[in-house]
Amino acid sequence: MSDKPKTKAKAVDRRGFLKAGIAAGGAAVLATGARASESDPLITEIQDWNRYLGEGVQAYPYGQPSRYEAHVVRRDVEWLTASTESSVNFTPLHELEGIITPNGLCFERHHAGIAEIDPANHRLMINGLVDTPLVFTMADLKRFPRENRVYFLECAANSGMEWRGAQLNGCQYTHGMVHCVVYTGVPLRTLLEEAGVKTNARWVMPEGADASAMTRSVPIEKALDDCLVAFKMNGEALRPEQGYPLRLVVPGWEGNMWVKWLRRIEVGDEPWHHREETSKYTDLLDTGKARRFTWVMDAKSVITSPSPQMPVTHGKGPLVISGVAWSGNGTVKRVDVSIDGGRNWTTARIDGPSLPKALHRFYLDIDWDGSDLLIQSRAMDEAGFFQPTKNELRAARGENSIYHNNSIQTWHVKTDGTVENVEVS
Ligand code: MTE
Ligand code: CO
Repeated sequence: MSDKPKTKAKAVDRRGFLKAGIAAGGAAVLATGARASESDPLITEIQDWNRYLGEGVQAYPYGQPSRYEAHVVRRDVEWLTASTESSVNFTPLHELEGIITPNGLCFERHHAGIAEIDPANHRLMINGLVDTPLVFTMADLKRFPRENRVYFLECAANSGMEWRGAQLNGCQYTHGMVHCVVYTGVPLRTLLEEAGVKTNARWVMPEGADASAMTRSVPIEKALDDCLVAFKMNGEALRPEQGYPLRLVVPGWEGNMWVKWLRRIEVGDEPWHHREETSKYTDLLDTGKARRFTWVMDAKSVITSPSPQMPVTHGKGPLVISGVAWSGNGTVKRVDVSIDGGRNWTTARIDGPSLPKALHRFYLDIDWDGSDLLIQSRAMDEAGFFQPTKNELRAARGENSIYHNNSIQTWHVKTDGTVENVEVS
């Protein structure tokens, strides 16, 4: 492993370091790894796992990750957990790569526990301002033409605890109320057309079959645009905690509207003004007024590694900065990364698919000189929106808000490789 920086690290001249470091890292990264001639028993000796038969095929063959990955799990924050039924846990973003979240790692947010529903007993009703109110079984739904789409889901409260200052030490906790999976389902439009939407229809109200009977008002334009009534995620049935057997997918819009255990869609001519769109999921401004119906999740990004739960353990030299970006407005066009607290920015490399309203993976490969870094990422979406700094967001929205915090996150990478959640002013 080469630990020779290509540039001489000057103590605090981060501008100088940035220029040299990126130039070195951006093109061809320094080779890491030992010379083959250096004897390493792990390569020169035959190991037990190479010598003896492994475990046979399992009797109950639903695959599990390696036991060495047992730490890669959803986690919660004790003081954010009112009860297990009204609770949240977080996606371990720092451990993930690419853009797809494995089903067992998708964060969960439920208001009344996980409804356990036998799909044979599940029904979806469409009623209200329609020509023919309809009731579908799961089998009925699977006879409509279906689509596969990759979308992120972000809870409006993601990063909510960071409004007033840096608080939670890990991107799992600050940004882990987001996941991104490929959904299979029937366009909501198809089902509404089947029922025949009346000309005075303006809104729809999806309702959940769980004990919270979650309801939200969704404008008819969105319902007829890209919403899906989904029954699969990443190819397999929805997980119980994600709304098995049926959930609404509302691409790019706040997670609360993605009603799980979907049992009914009412069509109406005005919004219903229910709890989740009045006392909750509204943004209280400094003026005492609240912004309502703020559905779109704006351009956002976070560096997932290095991050507080993912310190640098290899010392100076080549360092992969990895992160995710997303926008409810469409694709992410560009992600910039700063290693000096936002003074200088370098355009990162987006790698993998760039799909609208889905996570994007970005990288900046640098040559770390071992000095303190203040690393940040800033996403720009196809509509031209940039992520604001924390102070810009506070200037616009005050400090009372919880929801819709899409501001720039800063991690302080220290000389020993440990990483801390900080704010720069
Ligand atoms: N739907 C029902 N029926 N009940 C709920 O508690 N929680 C909502 C939404 N849909 C909820 C629901 C909230 S606030 C969010 S952020 C998302 O589901 C979370 O989806 P997930 O658990 O699949 O991550
Ligand atoms: Co939510």
